[in-house]
Amino acid sequence: MQAPEVFSFLRARVRAIFFTALRALAPQDMAGKRVLVTLGPTREPWDSVRFWSNPSSGRMGMALAVCAWLRGAAVTAICGPGISLALPCDLACCHVCTAREMFAAAHDLWPHMDMGMFTAAVADFSPKSFGTKKAKKADMPQGFTVDFVPNPDILRTLASKRTHGQKVLGFAAETVDNTDTLLALAQSKLAAKCADVLAANAVNVAGSGFGTETNAAVVVDAHGRHEIWPTRSKADIAWDLCTWLLHS
Ligand code: C5P
Repeated sequence: MQAPEVFSFLRARVRAIFFTALRALAPQDMAGKRVLVTLGPTREPWDSVRFWSNPSSGRMGMALAVCAWLRGAAVTAICGPGISLALPCDLACCHVCTAREMFAAAHDLWPHMDMGMFTAAVADFSPKSFGTKKAKKADMPQGFTVDFVPNPDILRTLASKRTHGQKVLGFAAETVDNTDTLLALAQSKLAAKCADVLAANAVNVAGSGFGTETNAAVVVDAHGRHEIWPTRSKADIAWDLCTWLLHS
């Protein structure tokens, strides 16, 4: 084995030992639950080398996947592209690129799941196919326009076909300037998406935007509960969201 391979082997072993020890110390209140997590961005290509996307880091989804796994759940993560993962090795991962691929993977897995945590920043629209070659400046000296078509809403579609008491957590990334507006948006999105619990965060506020280590959220559930959570680590927020979903 070469030195880089030895280091990467050792890193993987240390991570496995760390996660196993943490799991042994964690409450096992999600044991027996099968949990699906969507995370990260999607990429919607508009020619053979360029795409439409967003800066989601997948950290919130990773935190939820790890928390559910630590608490005994069997977790499957459907991961969008371009994120670096530090997940326990027996947490199943399926890698996708576009919203339609994420939808297809989630749709196939959903009947076998007890909970769904839909954190992915899915593109709501994808560009209509623009051909299979790189678009050339020389061919479009006046610029060009791109038509967009809507993507399927993964969360709403799967939540509205739930069976056997499946529980659903959704997110809402909003740009707002006060908590009352965020709460109202969270409540209307909870209903529109048929979710059991919904966490809304203001992505225009420092500490709760895309790619941050922390988050702050307004959390609502289908029983009419709501709470306003101050800025905390995504791990802390994920832990409490798992508890809400378990009791929703
Ligand atoms: O409608 P909006 O994009 O604000 O909804 C956010 C929630 O819906 C997130 O939980 C996100 O993962 C989910 N979503 C989805 N499929 C889409 C768009 C959003 O699952 N096409």
